[in-house]
Amino acid sequence: MGGAAIRLWPALAGPVVRPGIYGHFAEHLGRCVHGGIWVGERSRVPNESGVRLDVLAALKHLRAPVVRWPGGCFADDYHWRDGVGPRAERPATVNAWWRQGESNEFGTDEFARFCAAAGADAYFCANVGSGSPREARDWVEYCNFGGDSALTRLRAANGSAAPHGVRWWGVGNENWGCGGRFDGAGYAGEYRRFANYMRQIDPSIQLVACGASFGDRKNPVLNEWNHDFCAALKHPDLLDHLSLHRYFSRGAGADFSDGEFRALFADVHAMERDLELTGAVLRYYFPDRFVGIVVDEWGVWHPSATVENGLEQENTLRDALLAGSVLNLFNRWARRVTMANIAQTVNVLQCMAVTRGNAMFLTPTYYVFELMRPHMNGRLVTQEVEGPSYEAHGTGFTALRTVDCLDASASLSGRKLHLTVVNRSLGEDLETAITLNGAKAASVSAKILSAPVPNAMNSFETPSAVTAKRTKSELREDGSLVHVFPRHSMTALTITLQ
Ligand code: AHR
Repeated sequence: MGGAAIRLWPALAGPVVRPGIYGHFAEHLGRCVHGGIWVGERSRVPNESGVRLDVLAALKHLRAPVVRWPGGCFADDYHWRDGVGPRAERPATVNAWWRQGESNEFGTDEFARFCAAAGADAYFCANVGSGSPREARDWVEYCNFGGDSALTRLRAANGSAAPHGVRWWGVGNENWGCGGRFDGAGYAGEYRRFANYMRQIDPSIQLVACGASFGDRKNPVLNEWNHDFCAALKHPDLLDHLSLHRYFSRGAGADFSDGEFRALFADVHAMERDLELTGAVLRYYFPDRFVGIVVDEWGVWHPSATVENGLEQENTLRDALLAGSVLNLFNRWARRVTMANIAQTVNVLQCMAVTRGNAMFLTPTYYVFELMRPHMNGRLVTQEVEGPSYEAHGTGFTALRTVDCLDASASLSGRKLHLTVVNRSLGEDLETAITLNGAKAASVSAKILSAPVPNAMNSFETPSAVTAKRTKSELREDGSLVHVFPRHSMTALTITLQ
């Protein structure tokens, strides 16, 4: 057994971990919305106003803070008026990006009600690629305006007299790609026009511009995008957040080598590089304005997830541990990361739940979100982690990256210190001395997510193969804490301070 140390300074608790970091993303893609969230009121699947009760309960249990909708690539081909009014009269349209029909049964009012039922904020993505500023500002008016207008009367006629109060608005999605193939400066001009009118209708909305990931040598356009956009924007008052997306892929879903296991975790460095470089660009161009980073799509995307199968894939313990590592990273970046949305809520990519007819099972990643739930609204705690590491190649980098076996983040809520630790080693259990500087522990409890093999997963036949369970953790007589973090596992410790 190897040894390691985690040192924490609870007295140096810093910024609040924004709940939005634990957000989700639901696109009209494959079976995410249709079948995954929405089954319709007449379905035999138990539902509340057409929304699956099992999925709703799962999201409520996670205290899902926010859900992004309707896309993704779908957003820049979506015209919101198609999805309001009597369902029988809504047009059948074509979902061009995901090559499927769209009934438009689940539209603005259904999504807003689903979010309200789940206790989550709604995050809408407006159509820049094939839409207009008029269409986007009207959408804000329809959702948020409290006064009397033709659009608010329409909303009332559609069953929602009170405004939906949608606080988060994305201005397009991946506009360097599926969202219109703009360049950074061209998009800045569009962004100004859209954001200008959207904000005018509701000054309280949070506006998110489309940014791009860095660090990929093969895609210089993306490396320039954030600079070009920020340089050409000229009106930083219109910008609250800049988004970026990052997907991870190493080996196949449940079939990967030891090297691919390690390389997946090396790729967390690429995500960190995105945050560092985006943060640097924002500081450079907007020294007097805080602009948050919103990672509104992230997660593991295996090669088996294709357009043909609606981006469905196996979700293993390895993927869950990657999610735990990325969420630890977002916590550590609490000063700058204002929201993140894992892709995608149900059935698609790194989902929380998989459905079939009446049945549903939860993925290992769901349990990571459950373990990390207590971090929401806590204050980030200063930490130091020491222990073994390994080397692996990360995306977009020629050099080997050093991956620390233990990856952690900690936050403080009142007297409760929450520490989440991923052991990213395939072969080493790590006995770890946890020290609290300037504080003493009164008690400790622990939960763990693990399985005998890292490619373990849940299924309809074995829905509980990988779940979070209570595990033993005890203070020693002298009050010190030593915990063994088993190989390929994630542990959440709750330390109550004296
Ligand atoms: O999440 C699937 C797709 O990935 C989204 O539609 C798009 O934004 C991204 O490329």
